[in-house]
Amino acid sequence: MRTFATWLFLLALVAVLRPAPAQAEVCQDGELVIRFAHVVAARGHPKGEMATALAARVNAEMDGKACMRVYPNSELFDDNAVMEALLMGEVQIAAPSLSKFEAYTLKYRLFDLPFLFEDMAAVNAFAYGSKGRELLRAMEDVGFVGLGYLFNGLKQFSATTPLLVPQDAQGLAFRVQPSAVAVAMIEALGGTARRLPFKDVFAALERGVVDGQENTWSNIYTQRFFQVQNGVSETNHQLLAYLALTSKEWLDGLEPAVRIQFLSIFSEVLDSFNARAEAINARSRQKIIEAGGTVRQLTPEERRAWVEAMKPVWDQFRDRIGQDMIDAALAANGAG
Ligand code: LMR
Repeated sequence: MRTFATWLFLLALVAVLRPAPAQAEVCQDGELVIRFAHVVAARGHPKGEMATALAARVNAEMDGKACMRVYPNSELFDDNAVMEALLMGEVQIAAPSLSKFEAYTLKYRLFDLPFLFEDMAAVNAFAYGSKGRELLRAMEDVGFVGLGYLFNGLKQFSATTPLLVPQDAQGLAFRVQPSAVAVAMIEALGGTARRLPFKDVFAALERGVVDGQENTWSNIYTQRFFQVQNGVSETNHQLLAYLALTSKEWLDGLEPAVRIQFLSIFSEVLDSFNARAEAINARSRQKIIEAGGTVRQLTPEERRAWVEAMKPVWDQFRDRIGQDMIDAALAANGAG
């Protein structure tokens, strides 16, 4: 039975998390229309907030030349359909997670290796380093240009039962992104992986289609996953970051001055949100606790057991990813 306080909290949460409508930016005749479609909440989320801030700057500084509209919450396309939409010119900017490009390249599997990066400082050092920049171009042959990595954070596991050691995940079904590494990771734990679109995860958890999930604090909070889970375990086991991308045809077709101005605004906004992603996730973690959600911290021994359980996954993907890439990512650890 829900108490009065719980109902009050739920009403407040609905008000805060209510899907923001697509920005009603009215584009003028002659302005270049730039559509940015994504799948997450417009507020309280590194990607959602970055997209909104980007649109505000483009609309202020490129007024008369360009006009940006943002479509959050999968309201225009999900991360699968958006790739085709980019090539068809129906949308110009997207930022799916690096786990979602398997149909186009397998190089981004690197980022999915469990416990590869110790923290976001390491992610930052790798992404902005030479190997990270090289990987931005991994899909140019299929018509996509990587504009930069957009960070979210490290992922945490949650389920309908407490997860403290890997054995706790045995026999449970987890939602994962469409990534072979994520599937292997769940199987290494003795669980079953279900690839589901992001927009279906809450309902799948609520109805018991899956028992658990893995995501960042900001997704777990803004999508309310914690409300239908026993607790969230602070495993920090895998990165969630995005490739902000566009189509090569669209970018090459822009007037040079417009392209230069847009790309310069884009990278400034991207960098500033990458610097804030950790703080946004820390706030979400805190909000989960304040909302009555359970956050379980692992002891060093418990954490080591998760690392050990998932380490064999690396060997399944090492050859395809390339030892040089893995070494470069590992070398970024300790950058903070
Ligand atoms: C997911 O599917 O869990 C994420 O890719 C969603 C997102 O964009 O953060």
